[in-house]
Amino acid sequence: MARDMSFDPNKDQFRTFGRAKGRTLTTSQAEIMAEHWPRLSIGPGDPLPPEPVWLEIGYGMGSHVLHLGRTYPDVSIIGAEPFLNGTAKVVRGVAEEGLTNVRLFQGDVRKMLVEMPDACLARIYILFPDPWPKSRHNKRRLIRTAFIQELARVIEPGGRLTFASDIPHYVDWALTRFRSHARATGAGFEWTGNDPVHPPDLWPGTKYEAKARREGRTPRWFEFTRQSNDVSS
Ligand SMILES: C[S@@+](CC[C@H](N)C(=O)[O-])C[C@H]1O[C@@H](n2cnc3c(N)ncnc32)[C@H](O)[C@@H]1O
Repeated sequence: MARDMSFDPNKDQFRTFGRAKGRTLTTSQAEIMAEHWPRLSIGPGDPLPPEPVWLEIGYGMGSHVLHLGRTYPDVSIIGAEPFLNGTAKVVRGVAEEGLTNVRLFQGDVRKMLVEMPDACLARIYILFPDPWPKSRHNKRRLIRTAFIQELARVIEPGGRLTFASDIPHYVDWALTRFRSHARATGAGFEWTGNDPVHPPDLWPGTKYEAKARREGRTPRWFEFTRQSNDVSS
């Protein structure tokens, strides 16, 4: 494997998210966390829930990860998000709706990915990753070749990845990297050719998407399929 594609969580420590903590949790949020977190949390290296397993990376305030949980009860959904207040919101939602198929990792998804076995996921969602629009911050963008390589390793051949962004430069940046990784390895992510202005079926909307629209930006969604060649060669 080419050197720039190997992912080392101990070296690749640039931070891709803005904040992990916002307002102090209310008493009721803290109580709900204390009651439900032990059963809902999943950490790097923990055994995975039953297949099929889908992963949402950076669920923010959680409307989409809850949507997945309630819409696909036969799928195990893992959400990864460092932001504690978003996590507390999802924990409340999971508890109130009685969802039994959602597990949450509170932290940097890269720490979890590196411990995951090959081809263990059937779907991955990356919805509006932090845009880091200033050029000097571009290096903080989550989508980069080493990260794509790690996603390609943990998703099964034929698995689906959905990427969304409202920042044209980030869209170009991501598509360029997905394309060149796929060409170089033959085991990357191939764009399905979906119409990017249409959200996926049953799309529930997300908090960030609504903000982007309010501020006059147009969200785009891209669906990819993991190519079927063997990634290990
Ligand atoms: C712009 S917000 C979008 C949130 C949500 N997907 C939405 O559409 O409303 C990006 C989210 O990605 C999360 N994030 C950034 N880097 C991450 C990482 N390395 N692992 C997991 N989540 C990350 C941030 O904490 C933030 O909540």
